[in-house]
Amino acid sequence: MSQLPTDVAAALPTPATTEPTPRRIGLVVVLAAKGGTGGTLIAAHLAASLAAEKRVCLVDLDLCKGDVAGALDLHSDRSINLLLDRMDSLDPNLLRGSVEVHPSGLHVLIQPYDLTDLHQINADETTKLLLFLREHYDVVIVDAGSRMDVVSMSAALTADEILLVSTTDVPSLRDAQRVLGLLRHLDVRPSNVRLVLNKVEEGSGVPAAEVAAQLHVPVAVSLPADVDACSRVDTRGHLLWEVAPHARITRALQSLWHTLRGETNHASHRLSWPWSHKP
Ligand SMILES: Nc1ncnc2c1ncn2[C@@H]1O[C@H](COP(=O)(O)OP(=O)(O)O)[C@@H](O)[C@H]1O
Ligand SMILES: [Mg+2]
Repeated sequence: MSQLPTDVAAALPTPATTEPTPRRIGLVVVLAAKGGTGGTLIAAHLAASLAAEKRVCLVDLDLCKGDVAGALDLHSDRSINLLLDRMDSLDPNLLRGSVEVHPSGLHVLIQPYDLTDLHQINADETTKLLLFLREHYDVVIVDAGSRMDVVSMSAALTADEILLVSTTDVPSLRDAQRVLGLLRHLDVRPSNVRLVLNKVEEGSGVPAAEVAAQLHVPVAVSLPADVDACSRVDTRGHLLWEVAPHARITRALQSLWHTLRGETNHASHRLSWPWSHKP
């Protein structure tokens, strides 16, 4: 897979310039500022929480080492490669045969486990695939990993909304700042980028207000650290609401979609969640 070339803007799609009303959020791309910040965990839980009410597809576009399958304990010969092999003839039947269905009802396009099976795609193919998926689902959530390459940036430029996930340590925030600079350079509309702080612990890391001031973007939501609950997810491949139903991280992820939409009356919010910030 090629790294982002210096003349990347020429190779990437042009960001949308007009804002349709009402704006449909059909394609959400999750970018991790750094590996390990929680991009996959957040993408998987956001998608699974929405699957109860909408037709949702989770796409593992971390073509380097995507592990959505591991996170959701999915084992299958079906993978995104079935689509990538037939980019010239994408159709609903092919899509049906490529997705794995998670018990939550969520459709998932996984990366194959075997790293020798990795496929390379270019900017046009990335855009074509995501627009095709957006047509067939209410919501498509993309785990775009932490590499800023042609695939992840093409996904970002095609997205209706980008979730940039960072932790509150300085190295991760520095990378978040660099990603924001790149997105600005590519003319991504600032209002399309939502900053999500993860693994937030009171009394440690840079406070949200300072993050917002330094990065010049509001913090859309802060998610608490919960090593115990998340390590149960890691080892069992179950969702947080199965292994830690009462944890604050669980409630925050269950309501993340609605928090991002500013729907403060959503059921999960009536629990008076203390970590969410109005954008
Ligand atoms: N809020 C959190 N609190 C504690 N651990 C977390 C939290 N979010 C994610 N993790 C853990 O951090 C690790 C990296 O998460 P992952 O989603 O794989 O990150 P990424 O995809 O950005 O590399 C995993 O072990 C995951 O369980
Ligand atoms: Mg990941």
